[in-house]
Amino acid sequence: MHSVDVAHPAPLPRIAILGAGSMGGAILQGLVRSGQAPQIRVTNRTARSAAAVDGGAGVTSIALEDEHDGNVRAAADADIVLIGVKPVMVVDLLREIAPALRPGTIVVSLAAGVTIATFESIVGDGIPVIRSMPNTPAVVGKAVTGLAAGASASPDDVAVVRRLFETCGAVIELDEDRIDALSTISGSGPAYVFLLIEELTEAARGKGFSEADARLMAEQTFIGAAALLDATGEDPAELRRRVTSPKGTTERAIAVLQGANLSGIFAEATDAALARARELAAGS
Ligand SMILES: NC(=O)c1ccc[n+]([C@@H]2O[C@H](COP(=O)([O-])OP(=O)(O)OC[C@H]3O[C@@H](n4cnc5c(N)ncnc54)[C@H](OP(=O)(O)O)[C@@H]3O)[C@@H](O)[C@H]2O)c1
Repeated sequence: MHSVDVAHPAPLPRIAILGAGSMGGAILQGLVRSGQAPQIRVTNRTARSAAAVDGGAGVTSIALEDEHDGNVRAAADADIVLIGVKPVMVVDLLREIAPALRPGTIVVSLAAGVTIATFESIVGDGIPVIRSMPNTPAVVGKAVTGLAAGASASPDDVAVVRRLFETCGAVIELDEDRIDALSTISGSGPAYVFLLIEELTEAARGKGFSEADARLMAEQTFIGAAALLDATGEDPAELRRRVTSPKGTTERAIAVLQGANLSGIFAEATDAALARARELAAGS
């Protein structure tokens, strides 16, 4: 029987990250931390960005201003090519590397709003395309990444790309037409959480606490609650109930929050994000 050694997973194939800024750099950190990627080539435009790349065993950082054909060479020498440049730059980059891609090389998009069809129309037949939507906690290995596979990506292609992203957190596979919906939850979600932290900090300031104490209380409460959720694996509603004694103080506060229709507000906010994604896709 075929067995999987969880402690020593097979090494990931050769990876190129073309454009390793915030998001490409975060994925790189996860890969390096995992020790599962023996060869990673990363490219950036400037020597300054190339020098800022978090190196590590097996990582080669290339500055295009020093090595003009760096993208083409990195792509030609990789089994998985991650496209990590800004969305407006994707088409030019794909045109540059397309002739160098070997059949079977998997091309993975990090770019928000660029469709699999756009990728496939440039890279051509025989090149599987997978679109990803990670979020910023990838930097600390706590991402949620949505993965949507193009028609020519096989289950094995998806499985290896899933492993790649699992070095940075959790992965959800979905159809491409659900990527924008996922993005309104996990892509934008860190911003919602930071806003809630800001508002709780403001409430603490309003109760006369110093700036430092207000921040400490609000921030550590979010961090502690999230860690508790993570460590226990309990339902958040159950954890909430444990803090909410009948007729107690928390119950009063929760009643005010629920009375303000928090669930309706989250539905409305994420609907607004989805509407904006559709506007952007239509080019406005
Ligand atoms: N940040 C997020 O929260 C997030 C979330 C999901 C998806 N994404 C996606 O991730 C992609 C990158 O976003 P980002 O925030 O990481 O942007 P970023 O920090 O600006 O990174 C882009 C990098 O691409 C490099 N670059 C520019 N032109 C290049 C070229 N022709 N070849 C190779 N590298 C090139 C830049 O190098 P220089 O600095 O030297 O110019 C820069 O380091 C976008 O498509 C975005 O939609 C981002």
